[in-house]
This record gives sequence, C-alpha cells and structure tokens, in this order.
Amino acid sequence: MTKTEEIEINLLLDAIYRKYGYDFRNYARASLKRRIQNCILRAEVNSVSALIPLILHDKDFFSEVLVQFSVPVTEMFRDPIFYHAFRLQVIPYLQTYPFIKIWHAGCATGEEVYSFAIMLKEEGLYDRTTIFATDFNEEALNTAKEGIYRLANVKYYTNNYQKAGGKSTFSDYYYAGGYDSVIMDASLKKNVTFAHHNLVSDGVFGEMHLILCRNVLIYFDKQLQNRVLNLFRNSLIRKGFLCLGTCESLQFSSVENAFEEIEPEYKIYRLS
Ligand SMILES: C[S@@+](CC[C@H](N)C(=O)[O-])C[C@H]1O[C@@H](n2cnc3c(N)ncnc32)[C@H](O)[C@@H]1O
Repeated sequence: MTKTEEIEINLLLDAIYRKYGYDFRNYARASLKRRIQNCILRAEVNSVSALIPLILHDKDFFSEVLVQFSVPVTEMFRDPIFYHAFRLQVIPYLQTYPFIKIWHAGCATGEEVYSFAIMLKEEGLYDRTTIFATDFNEEALNTAKEGIYRLANVKYYTNNYQKAGGKSTFSDYYYAGGYDSVIMDASLKKNVTFAHHNLVSDGVFGEMHLILCRNVLIYFDKQLQNRVLNLFRNSLIRKGFLCLGTCESLQFSSVENAFEEIEPEYKIYRLS
C-alpha cells in the first residue's frame, strides 16, 4: 500500500466513523483494502478519496459499503468436523446444566444459529436453552430472522449435516418455500433472539455458558481482537466455553492464560 493510499483509507474510515458511528479503524487492513477496491469498482470512481463524498452525502451508498465491509459469508454446519468435536467434547458438559445461555456473536445470515439449534434439539438440550444471535449487519440479521435459504445450497448443507454427526435427516428441519427456497422449521427459532450488536463498541452479554464467534476475529487487528476477547471473557460464566473459527486462535492474545484449550485443532476453549 502506498503512503497516499494509506492516508486516503484513514480519511475514509474516519469519515465513516464521524458520520455514522461505525468504527472500522481497527479492522485488518489487507482484507479491508480488498473490500474498498470492490466499492471503487461498484461506484465506478477511480480513487479511495472519491468514495468519501459519496459516503458522506448518500446514506444508501453507505448502506452498500457497510454490506461490503461486513462479509456475511456463512453456511450450515460450516466446518462439519468442528460440530463433530463439539458434540464429543462440549455437549456432555452442557447436559449437566439445568439451563443454557448461548451467544452467537457475528451470526451473519443465521445458518450457524440454525445448525446449532438442530444439534441442540438432537441432543435433547434445545428446550432449556436461550440463544442470543447478534450482528451489526441489519440486512443479514433480517435474513437470519426469516430463516429462508436458497434451495440450491441444500444438497451441500445436507452433506455438511451428515459429516457433522447429524442424528436424523436434514430435511426434517425445513420445508419448501417458493420454487427456489427452503424455510427453516419455526421451532428452531423459538428460543432465539436476533439482535443488533456491534463488537467494536457495544457491551457485555452477561452470564453466557457458551459463546460462538467464528470467522469474525479474522477481520480485526490485534488490538480489536483483544478488546473483543476480553468482552467474551467478561460475558462468560466461570468454566464457560468459547468457540472461534478454524483460522482464529487465543494464542498471543491478552486472554490466552484465562482459558484452557479443549480442542486446539477446532478452537474450542474453556474459561478457567
Ligand atoms: C464471515 S461472517 C461469519 C458468520 C458465522 N459466524 C460463520 O462462521 O459462518 C462474519 C460476520 O461478522 C460480522 N461482523 C463483522 N464485524 C462486526 C462487528 N463489529 N460487530 C458485529 N458483527 C460483526 C459481519 O457482519 C458478518 O456477518
């Protein structure tokens, strides 16, 4: 990145923060830069600076930028082997709790939330579980609340479900929507509250038994990762569980010593 480009990006992020309160200043620069390039292409302008007046004066354009920056890419039973490990290593502990509180932080369009709801149902835990599913991308949250997904992905999701150790058939959990969509069974969201929460600026969700924040920290720099990891530590009960994405880790973070590794390969941790 040239010095000028760096100055332009800093000005852009500052403009977004001052005008809309969204703070991307501590997002990892390499991936942010790629997404800014996408915005430049879509807006058909030729510099980072040229995005600034558009963002400041056009709220709809900013909404598009927000979607670009948020990367709500997800899938059902993503990394199925993680679910397999979770069933073996964490479910037995959860089975000993009279009630369970779970926070999906950065839930995107909700596929992870429905996947967990299915697993909890199959393990007989769903009815005593309260689930909070949060994201700062309103558009993604609306899709999550609806629970309507593309039929074209179902074959792939069914495969993931089986690899994840699913105990029934995936088709038990959805019904046909239009000709190209499926609707997740409403019972799966009975205990779920979908809510707006910004990990950069918002506070603790108290007394959680389990927090999942998978494939989110990867977009943050070290300083922001530490802020968010401290937020999770303060949101968990003693001996609560934390699950990160496969490319993320507590190594070299400020909370590394506060957690024990339950499944290092699948990034499952437990607060000491
Ligand atoms: C790649 S998706 C991960 C979805 C899901 N956890 C998974 O692993 O499949 C990353 C999500 O993090 C959300 N996100 C990014 N920054 C955030 C922030 N500051 N606060 C809340 N959510 C954020 C994005 O909006 C996006 O939906």
